[in-house]
Amino acid sequence: MIKEKGFVDVPPQANLNLIEEIQKLKKEKNAVIMAHYYQEDAIQEIADFVGDSLALAQWAAKTEADIIVLCGVHFMAETAKILCPDKKVILPDTNAGCSLAESCEPAAFAEFVNAHLDHIVISYVNTTAEIKALTDVVVTSTNAKQIVESFPEDQKIIFGPDRNLGNYINSVTGRNMLLWDGACHVHEQFSLEKILSLKRENPEAKIIAHPECKKVILTVADHIGSTSSLLKYTINSPEKSFIVATESGILHEMKKNSPDKNFIPAPPNDSTCACNECNFMRMNTIQKLYNCMKYELPEIHIEEGLRKKAESSILKMLEISNKLGL
Ligand code: 13P
Ligand code: SF4
Repeated sequence: MIKEKGFVDVPPQANLNLIEEIQKLKKEKNAVIMAHYYQEDAIQEIADFVGDSLALAQWAAKTEADIIVLCGVHFMAETAKILCPDKKVILPDTNAGCSLAESCEPAAFAEFVNAHLDHIVISYVNTTAEIKALTDVVVTSTNAKQIVESFPEDQKIIFGPDRNLGNYINSVTGRNMLLWDGACHVHEQFSLEKILSLKRENPEAKIIAHPECKKVILTVADHIGSTSSLLKYTINSPEKSFIVATESGILHEMKKNSPDKNFIPAPPNDSTCACNECNFMRMNTIQKLYNCMKYELPEIHIEEGLRKKAESSILKMLEISNKLGL
């Protein structure tokens, strides 16, 4: 049933307080819940750690828990499993994929890499284990600029899979990395017209954007950065109002840290959908989280040969990030 559905589809007993039950299961099983900023508010609230994709990898690498419950998308749980082969890593719903990771098919990427053997391969963490196995160093949006700059200026580099992040890193580092043509369907959706109209209505508001957004959006942004960088900016800035161009789940942590400030989610082109919510991230729910912890399913498994090949590119990222104090 799990194989077909991707999650444990058992209705919980009536009148059960799922939040209390999850807390109990956490203690009984020595489990840790790690959640990405794009998870629904209730999951962020019950998590032991809430962070960006770099922080999730760093926490996974050093946790002493027996079970890692990764509330995020599949590549995040896979990254945790690659780093912790002896731990049980579970994800509430394995259908929680990522359009960006899917935009990079391993056989086609291998062909691209083989056609440019004088280039090293830097890949965004939003990739499958197969792509990480073809990669020299993984990056996240928090450390991409510094990791690219850690290589000599004349080093030829392939960067995949996100063309928007790749273009942005090229522009801030002056490099000319060869880019894979992938993108995230959520970040590509933001409407410049609507953001500018919001800015006219709220002239004091600062526009902040994730580098997965298209160049036209980044051009009007006052601050560009990963989810953790955007969060830090809103905390440290004296400004009181922000138009936020990334998945709207981050607003939960922003409001929590700065209750006196105003956060306006940037609208997508299509106003009939909640396209600034990542449908994959939102597949995880409290009920699926409860079932996942109760039955310890679905579990992430990776074939050992592939895991080992993928591991070295993630360890390289953690090593460089550690040296850089990120
Ligand atoms: P962060 O690295 O900022 O957490 O971003 C992850 C992601 O999936 C963005 O869409
Ligand atoms: Fe992937 Fe985009 Fe969702 Fe991030 S927001 S997990 S890049 S689909």
